[in-house]
Amino acid sequence: MNKDNQACDFTIFGVQGDLARRKLLPSLYQLDNAGLLHEDTRIIGVARHELSQDEFVAGMRDSLETFVKGSLDPEVRDRLLGRLHYVLVNLDVPDEYKRLADIIDQEKRQLVNYFSVAPFLFDDICRGLAHAKIARPETRVVLEKPIGRNLETSQGINDTVARVFCEEQVYRIDHYLGKETVMNLLALRFANSIFTTNWDHNTIDHVQITVAEEVGIEGRWGYFDQSGQLRDMVQNHLMQILTLVAMEPPVNMDGDSIRNEKLKVLKALRPITLDTVEEKTVRGQYSAGFIKGKAVPGYHEEEDGNPTSCTESFVALRVDIDNWRWADVPFYLRTGKRMTTKRSEVVIYFKRLPHNIFKDSYKQLPRNKLVIRLQPDEGVEIEMLNKEPGIGKGIKLQKTLLDLSFSDAFRGERVADAYERLILETMDGNQSLFIRRDEVELAWNWIDSIQEAWAKSNEPPRHYPAGTWGPVASVALLARDGREWEE
Ligand code: BG6
Repeated sequence: MNKDNQACDFTIFGVQGDLARRKLLPSLYQLDNAGLLHEDTRIIGVARHELSQDEFVAGMRDSLETFVKGSLDPEVRDRLLGRLHYVLVNLDVPDEYKRLADIIDQEKRQLVNYFSVAPFLFDDICRGLAHAKIARPETRVVLEKPIGRNLETSQGINDTVARVFCEEQVYRIDHYLGKETVMNLLALRFANSIFTTNWDHNTIDHVQITVAEEVGIEGRWGYFDQSGQLRDMVQNHLMQILTLVAMEPPVNMDGDSIRNEKLKVLKALRPITLDTVEEKTVRGQYSAGFIKGKAVPGYHEEEDGNPTSCTESFVALRVDIDNWRWADVPFYLRTGKRMTTKRSEVVIYFKRLPHNIFKDSYKQLPRNKLVIRLQPDEGVEIEMLNKEPGIGKGIKLQKTLLDLSFSDAFRGERVADAYERLILETMDGNQSLFIRRDEVELAWNWIDSIQEAWAKSNEPPRHYPAGTWGPVASVALLARDGREWEE
C-alpha cells in the first residue's frame, strides 16, 4: 500500500494515448497485483472522445491484455477495471473541467494529475483545473518529458505550470530514475565503503556511460526528427545517470538532499562550445544495415522519413566536471539508436598501478574496472587480475570477473517497471526520483551550448551502419586520450 496509506484519485490526462495504454495502465495493474494500491484508490481517465463508461473500460481491458507482461490475474484485472472512471473533457474548454470536479473527491482522496499529453496542452489543463477549483495546495501534477526542447521553451512550460502549482506539487518524470538498477547506483555508492573511499580522481581514471538501443525511430519520426538523440536521451537520461555517479553523498534520502547534490554536478559541467565541439562531441546518423541478421532501413528511409534530415541518432561526448572530486577524470557518454544491441551500463575504470612487478606476465597491467549493468541482465561486475593456477611457471596473471547478476542473486524477484515505482512515489508524495525545475533548466543550458555549436559548425552527422557501435569518429574520441570504449 502506498506509504501514507491514503486513497488517491489518480487522474490521467490523455488516457487514450500510447503512454497511458502501454505503460501507465499496466503499471497500475502491477501495483494492484502487489497490493500497493489503497482499496479506495480510483483511476480517472480524461480524454476528449465521446465514450460510454463501458466502452472506456473495454478499451482499457484490451490495453491490459496487450501490454501487461506475463499472464493476467482475472481477479486483479477486474478489480483494477472497477477503479476506472471516464470523463470527457475538451482540454481548452475550462467549463468542462466541472465534470471532473464532480467526480473527484478531495476530502477523502489525494489527487494526482498525470499529464500524459504534449506540453503545449499543459497550459489549458492548469487553467482548467484552477477554474474548476481542483488545483488545491495538496494537489500533485506529474509532467512527462519532453519538458521543452531548449532552455527557453522549458522555462516557458515550467512558468505555465508554476502559475497554478508550486514546485512541491510538481513531479517531472525521467523514467530512468525509476529503474531498479539506476536506483541501485545510490546503494552501491553510499552503502559500500570499498566504493565510497575509492570514488574520485585519486583512484578513478575515467568513466564511460553507454545507453545503446537496438530500436530505430518506431513510427515517431515527427517527434524524433525535431529532437534528435542529444535532446531525447542525453539531456535527461544520460545526464541523470551522470549526476548519480558523480554527486557528493547527500545528507539523507530526502528529495531535496539528493537533488541539491545532483544540481551541484550540473553546475560543475564544463560547457562545450564552438572551440571545443569538434574535439569533444561526435554525432552520427544510421544508414541501412543489419541487426542480429535482420536487414533494417537507414534513418532517412524510416516511415515518414525525410532524406535530407541532418538529425543525429547517435551522440558521443567527452564531459569534464570542474570540481575537486573529478578533476582530470573525463566522463565519456554515448547513446544511439539502431546499435549492435540494447545495452545500458556505467563502466568505472580505475587508475593503473604506479609500478608493475609482473612484467613477465603483463607488460602493462590493465586497469581494474567496475561495470554496472543497468539493462538488460542487470548486475555489477568487477574485472580483476588473479594468478593463473599452476606450478612451475612463475606467477602468470589472468583477468577474472567477480560477477553479481541480479537475476541470480535475487532469484524469483520480479524487476518492477520504472513507471510502477514512479507512480507509487507520486501517490506517496516523495519527490526524490523526480527532476526539480532548476535541474531541468541547468541541463538544458548545458545541452543548448552543444546544440548551438553544432548549428554554427554546420558539420553534418557522420554515418554509421545500423547494427554497429556508431561512427568510427567515436572511437577516435577516446583514442585521442589513449583510451577505448568498453565493447
Ligand atoms: C525515451 C526516449 O525517453 O526513452 C526514447 O524518448 C527511447 O527515444 C527510450 O527509446 C528508451 O527507454 P528504455 O527504458 O527502453 O531504455
